[in-house]
Amino acid sequence: MAGVALKLSAALRFVKLRSVSRPSCAPSPRFHTAGFHTGSAAMGATVEQFEQAKNKMSTLKNDPGNEAKLKIYALFKQASQGACSTPKPGMLDFVGKVKWDAWNSLGSISQDEARQQYCDFIGSLVAAEGGTSASLAAEPAGGGATYDTLLVTTEDKITTIKLNRPAKKNAITTEMYNDIIAALDQAAKDDSVITVITGAGDFYCSGNDLSNFTKIPEGGLQELAQSGGDLLRSYVKAYIDFPKPLVAVVNGPAVGISVTVMGLFDLVYATDRATFHTPFSQLGQSAEGCSSYTFPKIMGPAKASEMLLFNKKLSAEQACELGLVSEVFPDSSFQTEVWSRLKKYAQLPPNSLALSKQLIRSAEKQRLHDVNDAEVERLMERWTSDECFQAVMSFFQSKAKL
Ligand code: COA
Repeated sequence: MAGVALKLSAALRFVKLRSVSRPSCAPSPRFHTAGFHTGSAAMGATVEQFEQAKNKMSTLKNDPGNEAKLKIYALFKQASQGACSTPKPGMLDFVGKVKWDAWNSLGSISQDEARQQYCDFIGSLVAAEGGTSASLAAEPAGGGATYDTLLVTTEDKITTIKLNRPAKKNAITTEMYNDIIAALDQAAKDDSVITVITGAGDFYCSGNDLSNFTKIPEGGLQELAQSGGDLLRSYVKAYIDFPKPLVAVVNGPAVGISVTVMGLFDLVYATDRATFHTPFSQLGQSAEGCSSYTFPKIMGPAKASEMLLFNKKLSAEQACELGLVSEVFPDSSFQTEVWSRLKKYAQLPPNSLALSKQLIRSAEKQRLHDVNDAEVERLMERWTSDECFQAVMSFFQSKAKL
């Protein structure tokens, strides 16, 4: 093992030299095509910002470590060449395989997005050394608050809240719940017309971060359940009360609470790669996000029960046929088609849109709050149950065996 570690460490120095610092790795001509969105923070960093980030990379004083270098390598490759399509190296090519795995793990994230994440990451390394990252990352247009777990931007009258923990499939931590609540609150008050929630990387969201259950406070499980319940209630409330059109841009698979709140969105656009899964009984839990009310209403009780009781995973097409999703797009043109559509919608008169949305939802609002309360109460009991404890433990044990 030590030999492998040494080889890897040496090879990663090579990664830095070859792929990150040297001008021979300049972006491919594809960067300069008309399809590139200069200055679009929602869609990715500009070519200039990417170039600046590359230059800054070579000025770093400290070695950022193997994990960081692999991430930089992978983002650089994705940004400059797109998704990994080279053959997987053989078992004995340790270095090639680690690099390939890192690149391949980025899945089908767009070159725009990879460029943005590259800039953000280099910016954070520079900032950690005491430099300024302001000129590297695409700044949130509109000058709003910044969050560790989200990328929030306002552009073309659209506020985009991007879940930004791609390495964890955008699983929602306690911090992230609070960040999303704050970002929704901010979006409700800003001058955007439409608000979008989407995910960074190849997943939309893998639901509640199950490690939230492993951080037991001094007051024990009861206290954990109480604080988790209060947070969940506020989180779902932020969706119920959201005053403007809310759109889910479902860029990949969605699990758990990211699916259950979909009944509270006004539009759900999905790539044909997306799936919709609510494995509550598998985890000893019960439905939330008002899905115990919205799902039977949207798709009928029989289909809702397949999802909410028996963990049936839906494809994007199935979810669309059942009315949970508004429209499905081919993955290859998903981002382009969806964003051009949303930009047009955002030109519509804002007050008319907001007031119409409120009319559609107002008859239901109190009902939704009541459902939210009832679901939270049930879940607080579930979270202290043996069934839930065992299920969460077996998730982490199965990960540990890999
Ligand atoms: N909570 C905590 N960590 C999660 C997570 C979650 N909900 N979803 C993914 N992760 C972590 C994994 O543990 C893994 O971490 P590691 O790299 O440190 O090992 C990382 O994210 C990548 O996930 P991985 O499982 O390796 O990717 P995959 O493509 O094989 O599978 C999922 C993705 C989402 C299908 C799988 O991770 C999963 O089933 N997650 C649990 C989903 C869930 O039950 N959510 C709660 C619903 S109520």
